[in-house]
Amino acid sequence: MEKKIALVTGGNRGIGWQTALELSKAGVQVVIGARTEAQGKAAAEKLQAAGAEVEWIRLDVTQEADRVAAREFLTSRFGRLDILVNNAGVAAGDFPPVGPDHTAAEVSMEKLRAVMETNFFSVVALTQTLLPLLKQSKAGRIVNLSSILGSLEQQADKKSPFYMAKSFAYSASKTALNSLTIHLAFDLRRTGIKVNAAHPGWVKTDMGGKDAQMELAEGVKTSVMLALLPDDGPTGGFFHMGQSLPW
Ligand SMILES: NC(=O)c1ccc[n+]([C@@H]2O[C@H](COP(=O)([O-])OP(=O)(O)OC[C@H]3O[C@@H](n4cnc5c(N)ncnc54)[C@H](OP(=O)(O)O)[C@@H]3O)[C@@H](O)[C@H]2O)c1
Repeated sequence: MEKKIALVTGGNRGIGWQTALELSKAGVQVVIGARTEAQGKAAAEKLQAAGAEVEWIRLDVTQEADRVAAREFLTSRFGRLDILVNNAGVAAGDFPPVGPDHTAAEVSMEKLRAVMETNFFSVVALTQTLLPLLKQSKAGRIVNLSSILGSLEQQADKKSPFYMAKSFAYSASKTALNSLTIHLAFDLRRTGIKVNAAHPGWVKTDMGGKDAQMELAEGVKTSVMLALLPDDGPTGGFFHMGQSLPW
């Protein structure tokens, strides 16, 4: 059987790196994106040492030239893309969120724009750039790494366990990403391409911090599951470990 081809953005560390490993273990040919050659090479070597079949490309998702180069690489190397994991992301500051960078009242426009640029605008741009390749797949899958902190319902509900976890720029970027998930799934409803948003959980990474509840291996389960969805799987949903989450 022909191997599926996946691109994982921000694949040099954290959830992206582990997702690349798990997808490779599942028989997928994985390409990881990394912002620098040093990071890409080191991450790919570590993955290969762990038994994964991976290649790396230089991909800063905010850079149009990198996005176009990614499409050219995938076109010439494989002629299609089966799985796009939009994993690369940034926080507005340290977690748990404390201080002005996290508040709607005080966050600078520069910080807000930077977070939106990486977590939202670049995802729209990269996905649009790669859509022609995803359309060449028999069963394209797009996984957007969102967060429960992007759930408007949870952020507004005083009884929610996430009510006090307020990081405006980050949450707004993930809410926008959730909107992309709904709209793109609608646009692609007559194709075989499925688009879903994943909340990985609170995971021990540089972003999640050491107090996070989940180990990496557990924290990538949702994205891996959505990347490998069967043809009768859902599209246009927001999930954590197979459970639907409120928007
Ligand atoms: N950890 C959690 O608890 C948690 C919870 C909910 C959602 N998430 C989401 O899951 C995703 C992965 O998070 P993580 O915890 O693995 O974070 P992480 O450890 O901070 O890793 C983030 C990754 O994104 C990359 N990245 C950032 N900006 C980029 C850009 N402009 N272009 C390309 N790559 C870029 C980083 O590359 P560099 O090494 O070059 O910086 C790194 O590889 C994020 O979207 C995050 O919002 C995480």
